[in-house]
Amino acid sequence: MIVLGADGYIGWPMAMHLSRLGHRVVAVDNLARRAWDEEGGTESLVPIATMEQRVARWHELTGRTIAYEPFDLCDHDALDACIARWRPDAVIHFAEQRSAPFSMVDREHAVRTQANNIIGNLNLLFSIQAHVPTCHLIKLGSMGEYGAPNIDIEEGYITIEHNGRSDRLPFPKVPHSFYHLSKVADSQNIHFACRIWGLRATDLNQGVVYGCETEDTHLHPDLMTRFDYDSIWGTALNRFCVQAATGQPLTVYGKGGQTRGYLDIRDTMACITLTLDNPPDEGECRVFNQFTEQFSLNQLAELVTEARRQHGQETSVVHLPNPRVEAEEHYYNAKHTRLLDLGLQPHYLGNTLVDSLITLVARHTDRVDPVLLERPSVTWRAGGNEVWRQYARPERRSELASATAELVGRATRVTPAPPAGADGIHPAPAVAAS
Ligand SMILES: NC(=O)c1ccc[n+]([C@@H]2O[C@H](COP(=O)([O-])OP(=O)(O)OC[C@H]3O[C@@H](n4cnc5c(N)ncnc54)[C@H](O)[C@@H]3O)[C@@H](O)[C@H]2O)c1
Repeated sequence: MIVLGADGYIGWPMAMHLSRLGHRVVAVDNLARRAWDEEGGTESLVPIATMEQRVARWHELTGRTIAYEPFDLCDHDALDACIARWRPDAVIHFAEQRSAPFSMVDREHAVRTQANNIIGNLNLLFSIQAHVPTCHLIKLGSMGEYGAPNIDIEEGYITIEHNGRSDRLPFPKVPHSFYHLSKVADSQNIHFACRIWGLRATDLNQGVVYGCETEDTHLHPDLMTRFDYDSIWGTALNRFCVQAATGQPLTVYGKGGQTRGYLDIRDTMACITLTLDNPPDEGECRVFNQFTEQFSLNQLAELVTEARRQHGQETSVVHLPNPRVEAEEHYYNAKHTRLLDLGLQPHYLGNTLVDSLITLVARHTDRVDPVLLERPSVTWRAGGNEVWRQYARPERRSELASATAELVGRATRVTPAPPAGADGIHPAPAVAAS
């Protein structure tokens, strides 16, 4: 089994979870996320160990081995060799740039996000087809791909009647950002590959994940996963927990009616395990909406306020201008029954969980950067603002921008035509693997 993006917030606990269940786990990551943090001056509130330390500690504590392979999915030769060597039954693909604000900084970040995500995913589809066409691809998509339509959101497909005819079609998507658009492109590419090559895939439209603690991250500080609170990588719930722990008002962007699906990280582990244990048929591109509850921002702020109130502490809420372009009061009703039907038993977000998050945060308040906590550094209309410019390291940015140019160049390079055959005819040139 291969976990792509195994150094990430979800990928690392997932690699341990599958290893604990007895799977032989290969953990792939190019550490891009750590470089993006460095570029933008952000970092996990909870200190995280290196991948080498993580796998060594895991082995020491459990006797189990996670094989770490550092490479970029956009390097097709490396990815192809990995798939050919391990011949996995399943690949779980987390390895993407996953921040909506990061994709909205400027043109270069939008290009970098879409190149990284779409090319990496396409490379993977070709390698699966070439070496392990029966392998189950489990791909992490996002509920944000759907946007917030004024009708119920189905799980991937909708039957449409039009001019007296009817068809079951992919659900229409009106995404929230250039990042979410990359996920929509991935979904389309996966759907197409299943249709033409008979691959089997599950596209998980995941809601916002919260929590850091699983039965494995608990074992040792070196096994902890990241906690992001800043406006590029963090979530509103994480920001509220940090604000509550440091006695600040909770900052809700806009009117606060923005409603999304959420789930506990332990339920992410369970959802992916259930998906793995119940693979789709050959040629099937299955879609699950992976979340357990819906909340508006105002409801999340109220949950955190109430959790504090139970400890005798009053918390205030302030509304700030919304950096995003999105509906702030809207209908939202997304179906999410298919994982429940497979046996998911959700952990719901209540005061106890909010308390445990605030307790975790309180241990690390010395690492909180007040500017990154309070002020959004990217707006949808104008891109990276003065906060972004204050924190971003220009030299790192140009280094990464040239890496994007190189990546797009490599991905589209055409191999020189082979020498003409005896008949004098050149075979058609092929697109190079990378
Ligand atoms: N965290 C959430 O709440 C959430 C919600 C919905 C969907 N998702 C999706 O789940 C997946 C995992 O999210 P996460 O929060 O763990 O993100 P993360 O940023 O913490 O982890 C992603 C990992 O992938 C690696 N990576 C990125 N591009 C790569 C490449 N080209 N080659 C190799 N490695 C690469 C990064 O270095 C990073 O370690 C993402 O695809 C994300 O879009 C996450």
